[in-house]
Amino acid sequence: MSTHQTPVAPADVGTAAGTGPAAGTEAAAGPDAADALAEAFAAEYSLRPVPAIGPVDTAPIATTPAALEDLDSLWQAVVHETRTRGNDIHLPISLAYAERLCRAYPDADADLVRVATLLHDTGWAHVDESRIISEGFTGDWRKANIRYEHELQGCNVARRVLPGLGYSADFVERICEIIEGHDTRPVARSLEDALMRDADRLWRFDQAGIALASSWFKMDPATYTDRLAVEIVPELITEAAVEMATADLDRSNALLKTAVIR
Ligand SMILES: [Fe+2]
Ligand SMILES: [Fe+2]
Repeated sequence: MSTHQTPVAPADVGTAAGTGPAAGTEAAAGPDAADALAEAFAAEYSLRPVPAIGPVDTAPIATTPAALEDLDSLWQAVVHETRTRGNDIHLPISLAYAERLCRAYPDADADLVRVATLLHDTGWAHVDESRIISEGFTGDWRKANIRYEHELQGCNVARRVLPGLGYSADFVERICEIIEGHDTRPVARSLEDALMRDADRLWRFDQAGIALASSWFKMDPATYTDRLAVEIVPELITEAAVEMATADLDRSNALLKTAVIR
C-alpha cells in the first residue's frame, strides 16, 4: 500500500490479485516537443501502458466507493458545481476509480490525484450551459472553446475553495496544472496527471457512465460502447486502467445486450 499522507481507503471487497508489471509497448506518439514536463514524464514512463506495481481491482466500481471522509468538506464546498452536466454522478464515480488507480500506482501523490479528480470538471458550472452539449460534445469537441473555458473555470473553483480548507498555495497550483489541459492537452505531464486522466475516462465504462455519456454524445449504447473500445481504451495511459476498462466493458456489454440491441 501507499505511504501517502492521506491513505487511500483499502477496498473492502472484490480486490483482485495484483498483476504486477506486464510486457508493454513503447509509447507510440511522443508528446508535444514544447512541453518539457510532458517530455520528462514520457521519458520516465516510456513503457505503455504504464505497468502497475500495486494491486489492480477489476471488480465493478460500486464495490469500492470512495469511502474516506477527508474530502467531505471539499465535496460540500462544490455542491453547486456538481449540479451541472451530471457532475454529481461523474465526479464521485471518477474519484472511486482514481483511488483504485492510486492503489495500483503507490508512487503517485494520492492527495493530488484525488483532489484533482474531484474538482476537474467543476468548471462546467461556470460556463454557458447552453453550449455544453452543442459545442462540448459534438464535432472536434476536444478543441472546442467551451472545453478550454471549463478547464480555466475549474482552476478558478480550485483557487476559490482549497485555501480555506487548509491546502497550501503550492498544492493548489499543482491541482490547477492538472485541471488546466485535462481535456485539451493531448499528453500527461506527471503520473498524477495521468491517473486523473485515466480515472476521467474509466467512469464511462461503468453502466452509469454509459447511460449518461451516451446521451451527451447522442449515441445509442451499442454505438457508444463500440466507441469506448475503439477510441477510448487506446487513450488510457496505465495498464491498470486498461484492465479495469476491459472488464467493465465486458460486463456492461453483456448487461445492456449491446450485441443484440443494435
Ligand atoms: Fe473535463
Ligand atoms: Fe471529466
